[in-house]
Amino acid sequence: MIRTPLTELLRIRHPIVQAAMGYVSGPRLAAATSNAGGLGLIASATMSLDELRDAISETAGRTDAPFGVNLRADAPDAAERIGLIIAGRVPVASFAQAPKPELIAALQDAGVITIASVGARRHAEKVAAWGIDAVIATGGEGGGHIGAVPTSLLIPQVAAAVDIPVIAAGGFFDGRGLVAALAYGAAGIAMGTRFLLTSDSPVADAVKQVYLAAGLTGTVVTTRVDGVPHRVLRTTMVDHLERAGRAGRAGQVAGLLRAAGNAAAFRGASGLSWREMLRQGRAMRRDTELTWGQVLMAANTPVLLRAAMVDGRPDLGLMSSGQVTGLIDDLPSCAELIEAIMAEAGRCLDRLAAVRTA
Ligand SMILES: Cc1cc2nc3c(=O)[nH]c(=O)nc-3n(C[C@H](O)[C@H](O)[C@H](O)COP(=O)(O)O)c2cc1C
Repeated sequence: MIRTPLTELLRIRHPIVQAAMGYVSGPRLAAATSNAGGLGLIASATMSLDELRDAISETAGRTDAPFGVNLRADAPDAAERIGLIIAGRVPVASFAQAPKPELIAALQDAGVITIASVGARRHAEKVAAWGIDAVIATGGEGGGHIGAVPTSLLIPQVAAAVDIPVIAAGGFFDGRGLVAALAYGAAGIAMGTRFLLTSDSPVADAVKQVYLAAGLTGTVVTTRVDGVPHRVLRTTMVDHLERAGRAGRAGQVAGLLRAAGNAAAFRGASGLSWREMLRQGRAMRRDTELTWGQVLMAANTPVLLRAAMVDGRPDLGLMSSGQVTGLIDDLPSCAELIEAIMAEAGRCLDRLAAVRTA
């Protein structure tokens, strides 16, 4: 057992968090992680309010252990979402970006532990000053929307800057990484890609196989999907988007038209309204100021992510991925994964202790 300020705060057995992943981390994955002694997080930005309500009750039905809901503080219906979290007695609320002090206070008054994701020291300092309980600091090798600072530099910097538990994210997959994170001053780790690649993750096997086949250089950070840096698996489609982006204004217009075409086709197939598609698109974004073209591209993001994660079409879809995919070659259950990480962390600590006394 490894006890840290994070295991104490969250009352979990192991200092391991399953990071929020849109369309991937629903009740099944979150509950499997929590049952294995970590903290499972439901990704709610891509869910409607009804879907979130159902996901909370389904997760509570699958586990008695603590779990959390990840949401966007700037979602137009953030207040209703927080109402569902409180009413559902969800122990933890995690925010994709900084929540305002009033939101933190409202949740804490209701007994909910609050966590915010940060990609830079100043963001960690800001939310810590506002009273947040813990931060997830994600380095640039992580999957999805990311910042530029690598994990190995961000974590020691953030851990030295704030007094609350820091959860290290971006590139973690094993027990050595957990020990390294603790050495940097973190109180635990969060992992996305590693949890996507488990037998408990709902993603289609054909899609998981594409991740498993990718090497360490198999991901790319592109701004061509929705205008902000997004680490994804390098596929023919992504190469195409990148080339279109480099082709100047004409290429960008072609890219936007293709985005609109994708969105229109998906809308027809899914029955979603434009309003709902735009809501989902905006929900994927970490910042709020969008140009008109970016709004169109943002609406396209969930289309592409859903095609891979929900419809199982790696050829058509976009697959957010950390660089760590290049080091992963198996699909354990969450219980097997967490047990293996903790066992390896124990051996690693023993080895380090032996080095010191030698
Ligand atoms: C498939 C996938 C989907 C993701 N979706 C979201 C999301 O909806 N919201 C969010 O805040 N972060 C999202 N992320 C980022 C993760 O929460 C986390 O920061 C990242 O996976 C950590 O890096 P790692 O993949 O190296 O473990 C996603 C990551 C992946 C791999």
